[in-house]
Amino acid sequence: MMRVCLILLWTMIVVQLHVPQGKAVQVFPPVNFTLTVSALARVLLRWKPNPNQEQKNYTIRYDVKILAPVSEEYDTKKTHSFQTAVLHNGFSAHIRTLLFHNGLQMTSDWVTAELQPPPGAANTAVTNLSCATQFTIFSTVSLHCTWLPGKGAPEDTKYFLFYRYETCTEECQDYIKDKWNRNIECRFSVTHIIPDEIDKLIVIHINGSSKYAAIRPFQQLFNQNAIEKVNVPRNVSVFLEQNDLLATWEKPISPFSKECFEYEFYLINLKTGNEQIWNIYSNEFRLRIDVTCKYSIQIRANHHICCRRGFWSDWSEILYVGENKQENFIAWILAVLCVSMCATIVLVGIICKIVLPKKTRTILRASL
Ligand SMILES: *[C@@H]1O[C@H](CO)[C@@H](O)[C@H](O)[C@H]1NC(C)=O
Ligand SMILES: *[C@@H]1O[C@H](CO)[C@@H](O)[C@H](O)[C@H]1NC(C)=O
Ligand SMILES: *[C@@H]1O[C@H](CO)[C@@H](O)[C@H](O)[C@H]1NC(C)=O
Ligand SMILES: *[C@@H]1O[C@H](CO)[C@@H](O)[C@H](O)[C@H]1NC(C)=O
Ligand SMILES: *[C@@H]1O[C@H](CO)[C@@H](O)[C@H](O)[C@H]1NC(C)=O
Repeated sequence: MMRVCLILLWTMIVVQLHVPQGKAVQVFPPVNFTLTVSALARVLLRWKPNPNQEQKNYTIRYDVKILAPVSEEYDTKKTHSFQTAVLHNGFSAHIRTLLFHNGLQMTSDWVTAELQPPPGAANTAVTNLSCATQFTIFSTVSLHCTWLPGKGAPEDTKYFLFYRYETCTEECQDYIKDKWNRNIECRFSVTHIIPDEIDKLIVIHINGSSKYAAIRPFQQLFNQNAIEKVNVPRNVSVFLEQNDLLATWEKPISPFSKECFEYEFYLINLKTGNEQIWNIYSNEFRLRIDVTCKYSIQIRANHHICCRRGFWSDWSEILYVGENKQENFIAWILAVLCVSMCATIVLVGIICKIVLPKKTRTILRASL
């Protein structure tokens, strides 16, 4: 309602401004609007200014509205624009001319362009795609993806996976297959992914071929930080200081600095079975514990301050601290019992030797 009023008001001002001078400005839509796929999941939108549009002192811009797959609107003074989007369900956008004159904005009609979805039989595209990256000891990034064959994909379907990162596109060379010999998993031990970039996209494209059906391609965009499987914290050590447990560790192998990490500290009291997890934002942890109990400790890491959280690292190896004093007590009792029994036997032996007369001993020996 508000908008309608504003537009009405606006129109009135425009009319007032232009009618007295007798020359209302006409705004024409752009021409030759085209969409071109320039790389995997990347579209180039291009158009030309309308040749009938008066140039004069007007400021001309273009209003771009992406309709599918994800709606988005922006304006630009250029006559082209790049968009990154999954294209397996097609793509459509419309644009119009924006004209600014004397502080007023006027618009043309919209012109539309669209890309059809690529051909393929229903349910032949892969499903349940999931991917993870990992920073390696060689300071490169590895990539690992898994998926499920589409329910309608024939048994002879062969899937092919590609990733694109910025301008670089690579096909998988290392597939893992299911029992029908269909590719369902791929590993890149080295990629062109730059380890310390923030919020850059990794495009995954999986298409396929079969003798019996056209296989529908599938694309997905991943934020590189959000799918990073963080490495395990290093040099975890734990010891007792009086009644305190003191643990220290180093950040995982990562291009990000120490301040970027958070940790989960997982403690189990092995005597009571009580489990606890703490979130910790430094590289050490001190905790008052019951020193008569034995504890197990594990730590895992994630980054979050410098970039989006990734996948939690694996847990570090289990470390133990403290001793269960009750078990010790039993051992101690056993030891005391054992020592006292031995002592008794020795004592009896000595007493026999000293106290009994030699004759008795001879008789005893003879009777034995
Ligand atoms: C639009 O495309 C047509 C045909 O391709 C061409 O003849 C025409 O010159 C183009 N218009 C502009 C303004 O470039
Ligand atoms: C363009 O704008 C300038 C300054 O704003 C003005 O002097 C000039 O007359 C204008 N020209 C036309 C063709 O409107
Ligand atoms: C695949 O994804 C669907 C929907 O996201 C889910 O319901 C299903 O459990 C997943 N299948 C497997 C095997 O992970
Ligand atoms: C799969 O996609 C790649 C990259 O776009 C393309 O080069 C290849 O021809 C496609 N293969 C099939 C079988 O569609
Ligand atoms: C871990 O400990 C080893 C041996 O004490 C040391 O050489 C290494 O530099 C430590 N690593 C880190 C990340 O501090």
